[in-house]
Amino acid sequence: MNLLPGSPHVAYIGDSLHVEQCALDQLAAEHGTPLYVYSRTAMLEALAGYQRALAGRDHLICYAMKANPNLAVLQTFAAAGCGFDIVSIGELERVLAAGGDPAKTVFSGVGKTADEMRQALHAGVFCFNVESEAELERLSDVANRIGKLARVSLRVNPDVDARTHPYISTGLKANKFGVAHDRAVATYLKAADLPGLEVVGIDCHIGSQITAVEPYLDALDKLLDLVEAVEARGLSLHHIDLGGGLGITYSDEQPPATDELVGRLLQRIDERGHGHRKILFEPGRSLVGNAGVLVSEVLYLKPACGASDGASSDGKNFCIVDAGMNDLMRPAMYEAWMAIVPCQRRDEAAQQYDVVGPVCESGDWLGRDRALAVREGDRVAVLSAGAYGMSMASNYNSRGRAAEVMVSGGQAWLVRRRELAAELFAHDQLLPAR
Ligand code: LLP
Repeated sequence: MNLLPGSPHVAYIGDSLHVEQCALDQLAAEHGTPLYVYSRTAMLEALAGYQRALAGRDHLICYAMKANPNLAVLQTFAAAGCGFDIVSIGELERVLAAGGDPAKTVFSGVGKTADEMRQALHAGVFCFNVESEAELERLSDVANRIGKLARVSLRVNPDVDARTHPYISTGLKANKFGVAHDRAVATYLKAADLPGLEVVGIDCHIGSQITAVEPYLDALDKLLDLVEAVEARGLSLHHIDLGGGLGITYSDEQPPATDELVGRLLQRIDERGHGHRKILFEPGRSLVGNAGVLVSEVLYLKPACGASDGASSDGKNFCIVDAGMNDLMRPAMYEAWMAIVPCQRRDEAAQQYDVVGPVCESGDWLGRDRALAVREGDRVAVLSAGAYGMSMASNYNSRGRAAEVMVSGGQAWLVRRRELAAELFAHDQLLPAR
């Protein structure tokens, strides 16, 4: 039985933690630590959840690749028929390099530059998710100048509370994202008048790590109200894009299953007479989050001050590992709780530890007050680290970013090698000698 939160593809076989059929200790011995390891099967199963729920409908699933942009991940999804949600030209270049289809790619983001617009138009993206009137004007200009028509969808801010962490909540009036709901009709009319644009859809994205269906239904209702109001003014909207945001289980969260969420949304769409429209989703975390782990080695155990063994009430035991906030930012940035478990279970009493990294910041922690039976040299795995782990990693403290391995069954491939120190300063320039 798998008692670990997250994916059934990350489980102990005997006392040894595996991703599918590959033992993490072995992968770490071969590739070193910190090491991200992903289950390809878990990713494809998560995608299949969306595909099943949308079968028989005109639809497009656009993987929000900011969650994990490794080319092998993109390749896996592209081969399974998936499109992409991008927020920069760097992301578009990754899509192209991985064999993804620009015609199945939506371009999101509040701050697209003219240059990015131009390149995306040349590549032929499916549409631009436009977030402001000023952006509409810029896009129309750019498209005109190169003799193209830009397909646009307006990202509407529906002003609903996604009930998630404030840093990852995006659908409230107070957030910088999207066109305000009460300005949307006027903005559509403006878009229709601009020469370089073709209005094709409507979209929203209300936040991330959402664990309830209701905020989605509220947002959908507001979107459908707008579709009706816009079409009453003679415009037509071909698609409805409901964004991403579906949460995953890090500890005991119980997000709706993909089928349930999508099923309830489709039901509401049908009830309101919009069933003929193309439906888009932009899932990120729910496709890759539970599929990945971050493996790290225990460098030192540092008992609480004054305690000879075990925890003392006046201090903390520290488990210092070789992965830090630069490798996995979520705990430091959002106080996110992510499970930390040993790669090899020991039949010993657990102690309470703060699991911390080597970076020179007090905020450099991966988990607080965790019960672990570990010794120096053991390895631990942070679970559900497949989304917003490697993609948010930095080189702070001149630390090279981790290597990444993709597993399928008993096979493992290195899909990104560890960064070398010399690569980190390869773009620096010394001043001329004087
Ligand atoms: N579409 C848009 C326009 C987005 O901004 C995002 C995520 C997504 C789709 C995908 O959302 P997802 O399905 O992954 O929830 N770094 C944070 C999460 C930031 C999400 C940003 N936008 C974290 O580690 O929790």
